[in-house]
Amino acid sequence: MVKICCIGAGYVGGPTMAVIALKCPNIQVAVVDISVPRITAWNSDTLPIYEPGLDDVVKQCRGKNLFFSTDVEKHVSEADIVFVSVNTPTKTQGLGAGKAADLTYWESAARMIADVSKSDKIVVEKSTVPVKTAEAIEKILTHNSKGINFQILSNPEFLAEGTAIQDLFQPDRVLIGGRETPEGKKAIEALRDVYAHWVPVDRIICTNLWSAELSKLAANAFLAQRISSVNAMSALCEATGADVTQVSYAVGMDTRIGPKFLNASVGFGGSCFQKDILNLVYICECNGLPEVANYWKQVIKVNDYQKTRFVNRIVSSMFNTVSGKKIAILGFAFKKDTGDTRETPAIDVCKGLLGDKAQLSIYDPQVTEDQIKRDLSLKKFDWDHPVHLQPMSPTTTKNFSCVWDAYEATKDAHGVCILTEWDEFRKLDYQRIYDNMQKPAFVFDGRNIVDAEKLRQIGFIVYAIGKPLDAWLKDMPAVA
Ligand code: NAD
Ligand code: UDX
Repeated sequence: MVKICCIGAGYVGGPTMAVIALKCPNIQVAVVDISVPRITAWNSDTLPIYEPGLDDVVKQCRGKNLFFSTDVEKHVSEADIVFVSVNTPTKTQGLGAGKAADLTYWESAARMIADVSKSDKIVVEKSTVPVKTAEAIEKILTHNSKGINFQILSNPEFLAEGTAIQDLFQPDRVLIGGRETPEGKKAIEALRDVYAHWVPVDRIICTNLWSAELSKLAANAFLAQRISSVNAMSALCEATGADVTQVSYAVGMDTRIGPKFLNASVGFGGSCFQKDILNLVYICECNGLPEVANYWKQVIKVNDYQKTRFVNRIVSSMFNTVSGKKIAILGFAFKKDTGDTRETPAIDVCKGLLGDKAQLSIYDPQVTEDQIKRDLSLKKFDWDHPVHLQPMSPTTTKNFSCVWDAYEATKDAHGVCILTEWDEFRKLDYQRIYDNMQKPAFVFDGRNIVDAEKLRQIGFIVYAIGKPLDAWLKDMPAVA
């Protein structure tokens, strides 16, 4: 029986391995992690991450050919194929701080693999890493080996949170990069055979190592660039009376452009886009390509601009101050169908409003109060001017509360901000919400999910990203 071990039981390692176990009953899969609470949760009825469809998959295989364990060394030493799916965040200190990928976790995983291995292994980069990382990993593995043959493959993951299971069941493509040597080709084939259990072979792309590593960064940069492009257009739409939904529909009908990923929003979030573009920027700078670096940097700058613009619009609409006013925040996760808050635009929007002394009442169906407190108690990490992360002042953290119901959050509020596109926010009884709010009652829709016309008929003043402005908003000072 082929044995797979995955180091890192996170948003990628957990779901990916669960699907491999489900689709390959002849393969034994162990997912290992240094975090005891995470592994305990994977072995319980309350999984550590919320992902539609994941519970079902885990229940079908756990204890049969899928195991979660903290015994990292045992499972690594027994495995034929070791996936490394540890976190690769942006460095916050030292050389490249604010942009470069922090490979500390990756390096320590590689050293451990070298130390405990007693047989040949295929080591698979599942984490997103800078191009050329495989070369460094090879050095770590081979310098410590005792005649053991390690083949490194790059197999980046393209799943999106909230749709991870669907994306893993039916991926647009699976990408495998390896050395162009006979051993490298054999390793590629071995991994291709795993995916071929359920992925059509014409969707399994095999490339050299560097193309695979770079394609992951490139794909995320292209995706994020589409959002910043449409968000930049949304500002122009508001200034001219065009409607960004109509514009993106018309633009997306061009088959060369396509309709997906053109929804204007308060800004993109998630653990990948910003981190991976900054990583790309750093690699370009290190390779003497400042123009290319600046091109991609602009995608993040527009994203920051979009979040700032949203906050400014709220403050300027509400008579240029939100001090002491209750503002309901509906949605804190970076997108619907996940409880993940990494780089969520809600953090910057909430901090902007707290900075103007608003009183926030926050509701998200999947994010815990503890998580929100943690997210809001750290000072914003300025990637352009990185400094040590410092806690916010205690008075600022006192100015928000978390509640478990949208009606509770909006009661007596002056304004409502929709920051995540949860389906339940589309179906709320907005008449009831309006009746219980202070007047004038504002709705700031950062995801364009409400029927603005209906809400205006109820009496709300509505701001929706990239949509023609209410007379009220037009009369307020211009926002930068
Ligand atoms: P995560 O933080 O959810 O999980 C990483 C896990 O690795 C953590 O549980 C951590 O405890 C564990 N870990 C770290 N060092 C370890 C070690 N030495 N030994 C054992 N366990 C260790 O991260 P994630 O979101 O799953 O992302 C993992 C990688 O996949 C990142 O490189 C990310 O860029 C990439 N990626 C993420 C997504 C996504 O949607 N989250 C999608 C595609 C790719
Ligand atoms: C992304 C990539 O899509 C995925 O392929 C990669 O493996 C990891 O990074 P993820 O961050 O989980 O996935 O979610 P995604 O659906 O890409 O959304 C990212 C952010 O962009 C979210 O905040 C989302 O709300 C926002 N977004 C997305 C928009 O604002 N508009 C859009 O049209 C699409």
